Amino acid sequence: MEGLGILLVCSFLLSHLTISAAVDTLNTTQLMRDGDTIVSAGGRFELGFFSPGASRKKYLAIWYKQIPVKTAVWVANRELPLNDSSGFLKLTKQGILVLLDRNRRTVWSSNSSRPARNPVAQLLDSGNLIVREENDSNPENLLWQSFDYPCDTLLQGMKLGRNLITGLDRYLSSWKSPDDPSHGNFTYRFEVGGFPELILREGSVVRFPPGPWNGLRFSGTPELRPNKFFTVSVVINETEVYDTYELHNSTILSRMVLSQNGLWERLTWTDRTQSWEVFVIVQMDNCDNYALCGAYGSCNASNTPECSCLKGFVPQFPKNWDAKNWSNGCARKTPLNCSTDGFLKFSGVKLPDSRKSWFNYSMTLEECKNLCTKNCSCTAYSNIDIRDGGSGCLLWFVDLVDIQQFTENGQEIYIRMAASELDQIESIKSKEKERVRVAFVCVLTAAVLIVGLSLVLYLWRKRYHEKPGLLTYVPESSSNVKNQNEDLELPSFDLAAIVFATDNFSMKNKLGEGGFGAVYKGILKDGLEIAVKRLSKSSGQGLDEFKNEVIHIAKLKHRNLVELLGCCIQGDEKMLIYEFMPNKSLDFLIFDETQSMSLDWPMRYNIINGIARGLLYLHQDSRQRIIHRDLKAANVLLDSEMNPKISDFGLARSFGDKETEANTRKVVGTYGYMAPEYAIDGLYSIKSDVFSFGVLVLEIVNGNCNRGFCHPDHQLNLLGHAWRLFAEGKSFELVASAIRDTGNASEVLRSIHVGLLCVQHSPEDRPNMSNVVMMLGSQGPLPQPRQPGFFNERDLVDQSSSSSASQKLLSSNDFTIGMSEAR
Ligand SMILES: *[C@@H]1O[C@H](CO)[C@@H](O)[C@H](O)[C@H]1NC(C)=O
Ligand SMILES: *[C@@H]1O[C@H](CO)[C@@H](O)[C@H](O)[C@H]1NC(C)=O
Ligand SMILES: *[C@@H]1O[C@H](CO)[C@@H](O)[C@H](O)[C@H]1NC(C)=O
Ligand SMILES: *[C@@H]1O[C@H](CO)[C@@H](O)[C@H](O)[C@H]1NC(C)=O
Ligand SMILES: *[C@@H]1O[C@H](CO)[C@@H](O)[C@H](O)[C@H]1NC(C)=O
Ligand SMILES: *[C@@H]1O[C@H](CO)[C@@H](O)[C@H](O)[C@H]1NC(C)=O
Ligand SMILES: *[C@@H]1O[C@H](CO)[C@@H](O)[C@H](O)[C@H]1NC(C)=O
Ligand SMILES: *[C@@H]1O[C@H](CO)[C@@H](O)[C@H](O)[C@H]1NC(C)=O
Ligand SMILES: *[C@@H]1O[C@H](CO)[C@@H](O)[C@H](O)[C@H]1NC(C)=O
Ligand SMILES: *[C@@H]1O[C@H](CO)[C@@H](O)[C@H](O)[C@H]1NC(C)=O
Ligand SMILES: *[C@@H]1O[C@H](CO)[C@@H](O)[C@H](O)[C@H]1NC(C)=O
Ligand SMILES: *[C@@H]1O[C@H](CO)[C@@H](O)[C@H](O)[C@H]1NC(C)=O
Repeated sequence: MEGLGILLVCSFLLSHLTISAAVDTLNTTQLMRDGDTIVSAGGRFELGFFSPGASRKKYLAIWYKQIPVKTAVWVANRELPLNDSSGFLKLTKQGILVLLDRNRRTVWSSNSSRPARNPVAQLLDSGNLIVREENDSNPENLLWQSFDYPCDTLLQGMKLGRNLITGLDRYLSSWKSPDDPSHGNFTYRFEVGGFPELILREGSVVRFPPGPWNGLRFSGTPELRPNKFFTVSVVINETEVYDTYELHNSTILSRMVLSQNGLWERLTWTDRTQSWEVFVIVQMDNCDNYALCGAYGSCNASNTPECSCLKGFVPQFPKNWDAKNWSNGCARKTPLNCSTDGFLKFSGVKLPDSRKSWFNYSMTLEECKNLCTKNCSCTAYSNIDIRDGGSGCLLWFVDLVDIQQFTENGQEIYIRMAASELDQIESIKSKEKERVRVAFVCVLTAAVLIVGLSLVLYLWRKRYHEKPGLLTYVPESSSNVKNQNEDLELPSFDLAAIVFATDNFSMKNKLGEGGFGAVYKGILKDGLEIAVKRLSKSSGQGLDEFKNEVIHIAKLKHRNLVELLGCCIQGDEKMLIYEFMPNKSLDFLIFDETQSMSLDWPMRYNIINGIARGLLYLHQDSRQRIIHRDLKAANVLLDSEMNPKISDFGLARSFGDKETEANTRKVVGTYGYMAPEYAIDGLYSIKSDVFSFGVLVLEIVNGNCNRGFCHPDHQLNLLGHAWRLFAEGKSFELVASAIRDTGNASEVLRSIHVGLLCVQHSPEDRPNMSNVVMMLGSQGPLPQPRQPGFFNERDLVDQSSSSSASQKLLSSNDFTIGMSEAR
């Protein structure tokens, strides 16, 4: 470096040329000073000096040229910033880029694969800064390229991985903070040795492996389907191991980033909001914490608790296991006995950690099995590539960790089991089969009987039909309604049965008023308790909401959504029949001084998490993807075990895969829970539900409802109060007295923090529900919330809480004031 410095001082005297605007190259006679930039030929990227966030230090960086938010995708001198703007960049005759400070000391330099003759540096439209021979633009012959030294961002065309011949290891490392691009706590790299796997580490601790690449996707990312936006691909062969991706529409700005808190996420520039929106976070839920369930444990994100032991295994330490300390994992029920062992097939899984696995791409599953059978220390085998019926062989010789269970797109693995264990499992299976067969015969018999009976009934009715008025409760079957029912495959209840169950809709059975009519409790003849929501006949209103609810809820099934059992549509009676929730709705419990004493913190925390999962399902995992639009305490019901279930889908809307936001002229919902952009502009998105969720979380912690909240000291609503306490570092004062003693302080504070993140004024700032679920379930650092929306709302709007506020209200002067203040 010393020699280089002297050499540079000499060449300095000769060259004082500064680069002029709008060039994409730098040659050996030019200098790039602070203020100068190089712009790629298509105007997409720019190279220059840059100060991230609030920092005043200077870094040589590449950023997107076309957008107003300066976003560095690559930084040269990550560890050693310049302290002032007197630095400059130069290309030496040897083809080495050097960054010098005011004293001509080298702050950073590139290197070169071979001596150069007439080098030139060029910024390409891909965001790659290259050094090449001036007369040779063959990409194979580059002297150096920035793509080989990535920071935290993977751009289209970059390779994340290794060249096994040269030893070049291109890996990502997170920034320390938005103001500091130096190496943070997280790295993401291909680890080779056994089967090459991408591993995300925090320091030296493994946090998340997406799982072995199976030809289509990483084994642990079943939700990453082929899509129209991008294609991920992975190459694993003798010379190279890497991950890369291609964007299908290169006018869209999109990048993968290893965030400061260790999330591997895709960000996409959104013109409308002029910001980077999170498009995908690869880590989805708790199960993506590496080896959460220990050896031979299996993680199912939609189950609580998430961990269970694989078939044939039991918890190693049952006490720890029951206390949710799963790290010790599971042990075999029956020890192995090499010579007689067999294999049990598990389907729908994420393959275990395979960093120590042996593999061969050209073997068949049969050969693979033979190899594993022969070697007593082989614990499992599977195909590597799942395309075309499967090929290749992957063998494990260690305890299996990091297995997950998926409902779709999981893989198959064959795990070694003692022969006697296999026999047992086999006998249980055959018993089950027998039971299924018996059940099938029963169903068949019943079906035959029913068909027969219906025929008799039908003939009988046909004869009776001449006498009108006799059988008013027998289906009138307006063919229209019937078709609708058939489309939805919704069981139809007989009116007579409902009349009987609710004691003819007696007042004593009335539970309350739902979105579009009264709700009654009922007990069917077979003892099943139901809740019946009856569309009121008088008002003539509510039919739309009724239909809407049927359409939206009929196909949904999740443990945190109330289950629709069927409907009853006869004549002008229209009713929906639900499972009955003995513990009523959340508002009865948390807002009532005596009732709330019975709701301790673990229950409340379970309720918060349950609502979050239910909402996540609506937003992301349900087939239609749904925005609820009226989430509030009154619409969260509790079952006998106090599990929360979201109800009332009368105002719900589904949205397409792409469109996550819509505009409506009619603003509906409940004040106090409504996000500002929705109440004011009628703009609703999943983020408006997130807002309502945040309000709900704060209410559950505090025990007061947002709109009714009154604090003696100041005129703030609950959101404002929570925000003020948070800012003053006194969040714990927000906690309801009923739970001060039972509350796990870190969980309570975390919930408040997440609640505040959800009610931030700007929808882009709010997390989506998968982030929320993850933030609630983890211990990592959380971002700082900004000011909540509507936090002075109590002074501004004082309309009574209504389920259907009209446009008129929104144009009132009060609201306009609220809007300009909030902006
Ligand atoms: C470098 O570029 C400048 C401007 O295009 C040109 O005048 C100069 O001759 C070039 N130097 C070399 C060594 O090519
Ligand atoms: C910037 O200032 C810090 C602290 O004074 C010093 O350690 C560092 O070396 C300086 N950086 C450069 C490039 O001079
Ligand atoms: C180039 O520099 C990097 C980092 O300074 C170093 O790891 C690498 O071995 C160097 N490559 C060559 C070809 O000198
Ligand atoms: C570039 O120029 C050098 C010497 O001027 C020559 O040896 C080399 O063959 C040239 N390369 C190409 C690709 O033209
Ligand atoms: C990185 O780790 C250190 C030590 O564990 C911790 O103090 C720091 O907050 C972490 N930084 C981030 C950005 O997570
Ligand atoms: C490995 O894959 C790369 C990229 O597809 C290819 O260029 C290279 O030739 C392959 N090497 C071998 C040995 O197949
Ligand atoms: C690419 O995206 C832009 C902006 O969204 C759009 O205008 C254009 O039609 C898209 N091109 C293709 C080929 O889909
Ligand atoms: C995961 O748990 C859910 C909820 O208990 C259950 O319905 C589902 O079948 C489980 N998935 C697998 C693959 O076992
Ligand atoms: C879980 O159990 C292991 C072994 O008994 C112990 O070392 C570890 O500290 C426990 N973890 C927690 C979070 O209690
Ligand atoms: C293993 O199985 C063989 C054959 O059934 C039997 O003779 C042997 O005793 C078994 N060994 C153990 C340790 O169970
Ligand atoms: C992989 O399997 C094929 C077919 O069985 C065999 O020919 C080849 O030698 C194996 N490769 C290695 C590295 O074992
Ligand atoms: C079984 O496989 C392990 C790991 O590859 C190897 O070390 C061992 O020698 C093998 N044993 C036999 C009997 O082949």
